Amino acid sequence: MAELSYSSYLQMETLLSLQKTQIPETADRTVVLAEHFFIVAHQSCELWLKQAVADLSLVRDLLSSPCSPEDAAETSVELLQRVAELLRVLHEQVLVLERLSLRHFVQFRPYLGTASGAQSQQFRVLGRMLGDGEGEGELYRAFVENATHQGSTVADVCRLGIAGGSLHRVAEALLDVGNGYWRWKVAHVGLMSKMVGGQQGTGGTSGEDFLMRRITIPFPELRRLRGALHAEELAPTPA
Ligand code: HEM
Repeated sequence: MAELSYSSYLQMETLLSLQKTQIPETADRTVVLAEHFFIVAHQSCELWLKQAVADLSLVRDLLSSPCSPEDAAETSVELLQRVAELLRVLHEQVLVLERLSLRHFVQFRPYLGTASGAQSQQFRVLGRMLGDGEGEGELYRAFVENATHQGSTVADVCRLGIAGGSLHRVAEALLDVGNGYWRWKVAHVGLMSKMVGGQQGTGGTSGEDFLMRRITIPFPELRRLRGALHAEELAPTPA
């Protein structure tokens, strides 16, 4: 077997051959490079998404398993914290793309045809896990199951705070992930509106309006239960 090197291990030749620009090679070099930049940003997003989706799938499976629910919760905290960082990186990828010059984008955008980020399968899976637009997602349901296996409820976890141990840490990490996702969505609309204004998206949607309506903040029940603590605090204590 051939000895591994940096480039054979990472399959560099294949990796670096995957940035195929659509604009003709004869176009202005700055425009070709701008499209290359656009492709690299999207491909990087998809790679980090691959990691995030795999990490979250493991969290979902761990949390919903009845075996060693507390160990599962602790491992889930580590993974959720990692995903929160990945979402920070994904957010930054959007900010990086703000350095795409509009005058270059207008020249290569027609070559994108009907290709659109809205067709990203991995984003769809991420949305399903986080419950984007459909109430509570797979992750939150798994968290509820884990609390049940530990003889608790999400309301109790919120009430107990740090005394809730690993379940409290999972709840906090879920919120970090949820807020990171929301931040990505907001930044993406900002980028989109800067780059195409009120124009339609390449995927055929109205663009800005469509994306504004799609901004959701995951884990509504967890947020509601936490918020309810304020009302409990104000309620008179029974005599
Ligand atoms: C110049 C940069 C970008 C522009 C102008 C842009 C524009 C748009 C538009 C207009 C839509 C609505 C669907 C459509 O009609 O096409 C959309 C959706 C989307 N884009 Fe982008 N986008 C950009 C960068 C990115 C990047 C870097 C990603 C990361 C992979 C991304 C991922 C997505 C996703 C996941 C959706 C669906 C969002 C949802 O359903 O809430 N976009 N984009």
